[in-house]
Amino acid sequence: MTAQIPADIAAVSDYEAFARERMTPSAWAYLSGGAADELTLADNQAAFQRVRLLNRVLGDLRGGHTRLQLCGLDLDYPILLAPVAYQKLAHADGELASALGASAMGAALVVSTQASVSLEDIARAAQTPLWFQLYIQPDREFTRELVWRAETVGYRALVVTVDAPVNGMRNREQRAAFALPDGVEAVNLRGMRSLPPSVAQPGSSPLFGSPLLASAPTWKDLEWLQSITRLPVLVKGVMNPLDAVRAVEHGVAGVVVSNHGGRTLDGLPATLDVLPAIAQAVQGRVPLLLDGGVRRGTDVFKALALGATAVMIGRPYVHGLATAGAAGVAHVLHLLRTELEVAMALTGCSTLTDIKASLVWR
Ligand code: GLV
Repeated sequence: MTAQIPADIAAVSDYEAFARERMTPSAWAYLSGGAADELTLADNQAAFQRVRLLNRVLGDLRGGHTRLQLCGLDLDYPILLAPVAYQKLAHADGELASALGASAMGAALVVSTQASVSLEDIARAAQTPLWFQLYIQPDREFTRELVWRAETVGYRALVVTVDAPVNGMRNREQRAAFALPDGVEAVNLRGMRSLPPSVAQPGSSPLFGSPLLASAPTWKDLEWLQSITRLPVLVKGVMNPLDAVRAVEHGVAGVVVSNHGGRTLDGLPATLDVLPAIAQAVQGRVPLLLDGGVRRGTDVFKALALGATAVMIGRPYVHGLATAGAAGVAHVLHLLRTELEVAMALTGCSTLTDIKASLVWR
């Protein structure tokens, strides 16, 4: 059965309530929750609401467009689909439906290491550029093989998530007793060697000294990754300008300013709030992407005005996916793209390069 887009949806945020109805409470807690008290989760959206725009009138808008080049891709507009794990929690077709929705709208999709569909099947379904999100796994040989698989089937870049050597304190998930249901698993990680169990000694630290932290990736592992792939490597999860500069010095192809959708370290600032300092530190040497809290085309505009080249959306497209499958994903992209164009027209911007900090009201 093809799911229908509910008639009363006018904005991306309208999808949230529909998605919640269609998902189990436990899956909903996983998707929508953040870490601990969810301060960072809430602030990502609040930061966009704190920023006001300043328009320009009577500009010449003929020949306008929203095209850009990004890490070797020619994109029609600056909105990508962020890596989100286990999309079968939202819809039976999971990542395959997201790939179809992205393809219909010509958006690039970043496939999660923890996808619930094989990266090869997603590549077969997609008619749009794919990037592969990578966790450098404790099993480095397995990591090498994952990279090789992604390269072989045509993924165009690697996006290494660097902000989660351990999971955040996911209290909402814990309270909902979240567990993956039968039929939903990280299929791309099948066959990976698991870590030896931590042996807790009375009085010992619960985490330091554990095999997990002993194998947590470092800058050296980033160099190793760059040495084994011919794909551009972006780092995702950078919030500190010092790390952004270090990543640039390591020759990354791009930096994703992200706090993991508020799911790792609660208490981090909103991504939009750190963006200007990161843009200032990076000085345009690599493209900056931003995720976290984008719900409106005006949010995309604000992020670009403050230094981003493009944004990624996560939960909003999964809300579309849960509600109406591929059509919902495509519709979410359509809504955001249209709103961005309206914002550009109303601020006198005919191309993305016209979107400047001077259009933000201070
Ligand atoms: C996975 O990266 C998650 O945030 O759950």
